[in-house]
Amino acid sequence: MTKKTVADINVKDKKVLMRCDFNVPLDERCNITSDDRIVKALPTIKHVLDGGGSLILMSHLGRPAGERDEKMSLSPVAQRLSELLAKDVVFADDCVGDDPTSKAAALKAGDCMLLENLRFHKQETIKDKAAKEDAQLRQAKDDFAKSLAGLADIYVDDAFGTAHRDNASMYTVPEVMKGKPRVIGFLIEKELKFLGEALSAPEKPFVAILGGAKVSDKIGVIENLLDKVDSILIGGAMAFTFFKAQGRSIGDSLCEDDFVEKAGEILKRAEESGCEIVLPVDCVVAREVKAGTENKVAAYNVEAGWRGLDIGPETQKLFAEKLDGAKTIVWNGPMGIFEIPPFDEGTKAVAMAVADATDKGALSVIGGGDSASAIEKLGLAQRVSHISTGGGASLEFLEGKKFKCLEILDEK
Ligand code: 3PG
Repeated sequence: MTKKTVADINVKDKKVLMRCDFNVPLDERCNITSDDRIVKALPTIKHVLDGGGSLILMSHLGRPAGERDEKMSLSPVAQRLSELLAKDVVFADDCVGDDPTSKAAALKAGDCMLLENLRFHKQETIKDKAAKEDAQLRQAKDDFAKSLAGLADIYVDDAFGTAHRDNASMYTVPEVMKGKPRVIGFLIEKELKFLGEALSAPEKPFVAILGGAKVSDKIGVIENLLDKVDSILIGGAMAFTFFKAQGRSIGDSLCEDDFVEKAGEILKRAEESGCEIVLPVDCVVAREVKAGTENKVAAYNVEAGWRGLDIGPETQKLFAEKLDGAKTIVWNGPMGIFEIPPFDEGTKAVAMAVADATDKGALSVIGGGDSASAIEKLGLAQRVSHISTGGGASLEFLEGKKFKCLEILDEK
């Protein structure tokens, strides 16, 4: 898939409608606690503004249930964008209606405007499946998309984090803008390059690291990776479902009983396909999930009353050995309860091992979410090849799913 990018079109004196993923974390006073997604959208934004286009940015923030909710307003994002661009960013207090229409019409070359949260309208998140079955919903979604599309001459998609959603702004808007340029931005281009390269032409050895609480979230990824990678290192609470499948005692550790059989099947399939699944050889256990609580290392079985909350020191060493010499690395999901020390040690050790392997020449791609914030917090962002801005989107990409919203955009 070679999609046209914003660099392939002329934006001069054109109105450009750009879908971003400004779904940034806010604290209780609506201060942005990480502007990473805004910063990563800047190359495309600057390209359009420097090219003499006028830019209308749109995004969702949170899940406001289809109505206005001031706690999820994009106004702090407009403020932050103004600071980053060192110029005024016009803020429209809705994404459709008179205010955005008149403000969009008044934009001049090089002006930038941000629309209020798309999800303040329930039409944004009407599922395509529901719209197919219900003509009224179809109409509502189309009308909403047409109002957005009517603001501009060009559609740019740079919202990788939302690429797995069939939201109106992601698919229906470019659908109704057929005949006008519909291209990807530089962020999506970069995401597709790194994630795509890792999956389609990986230099071997290729090692995947998967963690997080639920194996059910990662089944699709594991199944897609089994015949592509040399090893899958499994940490996080999801490891306990595999332990149970092996007949080990897991004490009070998290386990998805409905997936024990599936975990057993995966272990068998991995053996048949020559993919090494590496499970922890020890784990840090505690009686409760609390900072500084009494904890110890359990070598194999976990006693009743105790639960595994992180990989242990021997596993840290083992995983680091497996990563040393890897040429391609994909990592998604923390190794333990990263937010609560001391159960962050395993994730830290893996982050360091990934950075070390990258220094030695590996291509390393970090899926969004917790593993991405672990790398950032540890100051290792510059020592890995790529940190994805997509949590769910990068997972679905690793599952091998196609993104409908990208398929509809112009080919080179
Ligand atoms: C994300 O943060 O993963 C994206 O912005 C998508 O958000 P959503 O899961 O609310 O659709």
